[in-house]
Amino acid sequence: MKVLIVGANGKVGTILAGKLWAHSNFSPVGLIRDMRQQTKFTALGVPSVVGDLEEGVSSFLPGLDAVVFTAGSGSRTGSEKTTDVDQNAAIQLIKDCEGAGVRRFIMISAIGADPNSESTRIQHYLRAKGVADSRLRSSKLDYTIIAPGSLIDERGTGRVQVSEDLGFHGYLPREDLVECIIESLKNFNSIGKTIQVVSGGQKVKDAFIGLIGGGLPPIA
Ligand SMILES: NC(=O)c1ccc[n+]([C@@H]2O[C@H](COP(=O)([O-])OP(=O)(O)OC[C@H]3O[C@@H](n4cnc5c(N)ncnc54)[C@H](OP(=O)(O)O)[C@@H]3O)[C@@H](O)[C@H]2O)c1
Repeated sequence: MKVLIVGANGKVGTILAGKLWAHSNFSPVGLIRDMRQQTKFTALGVPSVVGDLEEGVSSFLPGLDAVVFTAGSGSRTGSEKTTDVDQNAAIQLIKDCEGAGVRRFIMISAIGADPNSESTRIQHYLRAKGVADSRLRSSKLDYTIIAPGSLIDERGTGRVQVSEDLGFHGYLPREDLVECIIESLKNFNSIGKTIQVVSGGQKVKDAFIGLIGGGLPPIA
């Protein structure tokens, strides 16, 4: 499965690139926006392409099997950038994937993402993510929306709690989010689902099977 990692130079994207590369079923390509970031990916053995979401990246889509959107404007930019990247660029990418016939789309969203979020802390971000998620749900794509709690850099435990609606916020090591992304790519029952995830007590694969069952690719 040839997978474009959008936001590859980010914390999640970098871990994902390495893990997918080590996996015989996947052939990752990292989308980065600065040539100087290429060194890291060359060292990992992962091919990379240089492009900016805000300028459009449709030329990289033909021939792909899947896209993972793990880009983000980050907390240090203003709300305008959040709208530009987390919302509008994500929506443009969804449209471009529809146009290019790249059906599989994994969106890294966030617990609480909602176009009508009333969060007192990160309302603008959650609304922007929510608008992009809504557009993805109404697309023709085979999407999975993974909505983690707050991401932390601690080592992964390989154990999570998943639900379509957890009802609370929590934390998740980025390494464990990456395991959830890979599990979603492997488990075709995740298509059309929104899966919230925080640290928990179940192995990632078991947690997914418990929530959605284990789905193999359809026989052609
Ligand atoms: N932080 C949290 O607690 C939290 C919680 C829930 C969900 N999330 C979501 O999880 C995802 C991954 O988080 P992370 O910690 O890995 O984020 P990160 O380290 O900030 O990485 C984000 C990446 O997006 C890239 N990017 C930004 N604008 C771009 C553009 N216009 N074109 C191409 N790439 C662009 C950045 O590129 P550069 O490296 O060039 O800057 C960066 O590599 C994000 O979607 C985030 O919203 C985060």
